[in-house]
Amino acid sequence: MMRGVIENISVIGTGYLGATHAACMAELGYNVLGVDIDPEKIDSLSRGELPFHEPGLPELIRKHVDSGRLRFTTDLEEVGAWGDVHFIAVGTPQQAGGTGADMTFVNAATRSLARAISKDALIVGKSTVPVGTARRLAALVEEESAEGVRVSLAWNPEFLREGFAVEDTLRPDRLVVGTADEADEAVLRDVYSEALGRDTPWIATDFETAELVKVAANAFLATKISFINAFSEVTEAVGGNITTLADAIGHDTRIGRKFLNAGVGFGGGCLPKDIRALQTRVGELGLDHTMRFLDEMDQINLRRRDRVVNLAEQILDSDLAGKRIAVLGVTFKPLSDDVRDSPGLDVAVRLFSSGADVAVYDPEGNRNAAKRFPRLGYVDSLTEAVTDADLVVLTTEWNEFKALTPADLEPLVAQKQFIDARNVLSASQWEGSGWRFAQLGRIFTDA
Ligand code: UDX
Repeated sequence: MMRGVIENISVIGTGYLGATHAACMAELGYNVLGVDIDPEKIDSLSRGELPFHEPGLPELIRKHVDSGRLRFTTDLEEVGAWGDVHFIAVGTPQQAGGTGADMTFVNAATRSLARAISKDALIVGKSTVPVGTARRLAALVEEESAEGVRVSLAWNPEFLREGFAVEDTLRPDRLVVGTADEADEAVLRDVYSEALGRDTPWIATDFETAELVKVAANAFLATKISFINAFSEVTEAVGGNITTLADAIGHDTRIGRKFLNAGVGFGGGCLPKDIRALQTRVGELGLDHTMRFLDEMDQINLRRRDRVVNLAEQILDSDLAGKRIAVLGVTFKPLSDDVRDSPGLDVAVRLFSSGADVAVYDPEGNRNAAKRFPRLGYVDSLTEAVTDADLVVLTTEWNEFKALTPADLEPLVAQKQFIDARNVLSASQWEGSGWRFAQLGRIFTDA
């Protein structure tokens, strides 16, 4: 690969990561081919339709499908003859029945791509993978690629957040590339020249560091959330205000206030599975104790969900059978329709399993939640959800829920009882209006 000649970029895998990366590369001026093995996905993306919710992304995809700069295909041979740089952005979900990362898709995509490539090219892994993967795949690529064609591999982890995926990809806070060769780093400098022109920090390193940066970042974020949630358990026991505590320690710039929001904890397609995969990988390396603290973080996180269910039982006198409970929010966070490992959905299912008549409302998540748990009662509006409710539980902090006031709900609910599992409402306001109002990290004693 020569510098300054990159025109054609392919992105293998068109999920959150791949679809976003493909659209953003087109926005940066490259010709882009998005590749997937699922023909239906390719058809809908080619029409500019996205199978998931991500603000700003459908518009960007349509813009570049229309401009002709962005196309989608299932044909790897075409891609192999065309692309200068190929990004691998397929998923690494948690193994079925295990805690490690399922590498099936990354392995298959890399092997097929290496076999299909018929001109000099750079393969760039973006997926979150166990440390050691890039070195293994580099050898695989060498083995599988055609004679006379120079194909090398680099690792370039992605830090995008769902809900801000386009912004995070176009304006990353840092770029990390792991390469075995300075020439490959130079190619990536070219690819990302726009961001580099804005002085985006550029961290060029080896494969292992690049892989570890990603899992270390997610492990740190998960730890930060579980750290404050562990203090929630303390303030629930002795009193105190968890939000004030977070504000106060957050003023210390060494600590920082972000990711210290106490509540029902983290979920989604990344943090939970990444901390489990990291522990598993480090265990495989013989370092059984090293990441054991992450197991504690996982447990603290899951106990928050228990706490919400326990509060519901406490408020409803231990008898959930037939009680109408409105669950507000089943996506793992706002601005997403992702319900993977969602705390809100987990809580809803557990309340339902205890016999409650659960009315679920989420502005974007009902469809995906219903695919997983069709028996829950899904409704199309906040009003429907809270009508005749014996208890309202706020589990995802959508703006629509954060703006709620007691006066909004009082004409509708059967009983003035509320659990704010994201600590986003004012306890004094709701208690002042005569509500039994519980939050996480606060003593709740009036039952
Ligand atoms: C995360 C990382 O932030 C991102 O860099 C990485 O690329 C992928 O994983 P994402 O899964 O989109 O991104 O979600 P994030 O915004 O990190 O939130 C994760 C979970 O933590 C959510 O369930 C959220 O509700 C929860 N959370 C977040 C808290 O409970 N408290 C907080 O203070 C912050």
